[in-house]
Amino acid sequence: MRKPMVAGNWKMNGTKQSVGELLAALKEQITHVSDVEVAVFPPYVLLGQVEQLLAGSLVSWGAQNLDIHTEGAYTGEISAHMLKDFGCTYVLVGHSERRALYHESNELTVEKYRVAIAAGLSPIFCIGETFEERKKEKTYEVLSAQLLGILSSQENLASLKNAVIAYEPVWAIGTGLTASPEMAQDVHQKIRFWVAERDKHIADGLRILYGGSVKSDNAKSLFAMPDVDGGLIGGASLKAHDFLGIVKSCSSF
Ligand code: PGA
Repeated sequence: MRKPMVAGNWKMNGTKQSVGELLAALKEQITHVSDVEVAVFPPYVLLGQVEQLLAGSLVSWGAQNLDIHTEGAYTGEISAHMLKDFGCTYVLVGHSERRALYHESNELTVEKYRVAIAAGLSPIFCIGETFEERKKEKTYEVLSAQLLGILSSQENLASLKNAVIAYEPVWAIGTGLTASPEMAQDVHQKIRFWVAERDKHIADGLRILYGGSVKSDNAKSLFAMPDVDGGLIGGASLKAHDFLGIVKSCSSF
């Protein structure tokens, strides 16, 4: 049985003040929730504050990115070990904004996944197709290329038991357009099938999150799909009321 997860990707948003307010509200509500895992992904500079505020709570945290090097002369970068030092459980890898705006290739993304696993972090490995690619019926082709480096390596495949996959159609991110529950289910089922072809046990336990304009009014129908194990939430994770509404969609609290 997979425990659903609701993860809030704050992107480049938040101040010391807004984080204090948001986390106070989350902590107050998420006290006895055991049927869903909640995690937040603040910008690097807020991780210390988040660690302090969330230590001992039921909410986990992670970073939005990491570098592949361990330490040294890489100005502006942050390593997996630094993230561990700040109590991170998770790290986002391959978010479409990293792929599109910072030119992160499929190869680099898989390397980041590997480095995260080696450091004891759980990567949330993000994949998704653009609108053009969907229109040309290339969705599966694009997703399988993004996953290739993981599925084709026995070691990376085995480490999926410590990872999460997020399917985020690029055309749905921040646009207000959401994949229909059936559309999301179709892709999630396919992803699980690809993993199951190699290892059924890992596929059965693998959490696959949906991301892209998830709001409290569409979350319930998306999360009701058998292969949708929760969501990666951008815009709606910045307001406690909206984010908690989404958490409630897959929890009985
Ligand atoms: P959105 O972002 O919920 O604002 O569409 C999702 C994401 O980028 O993870």
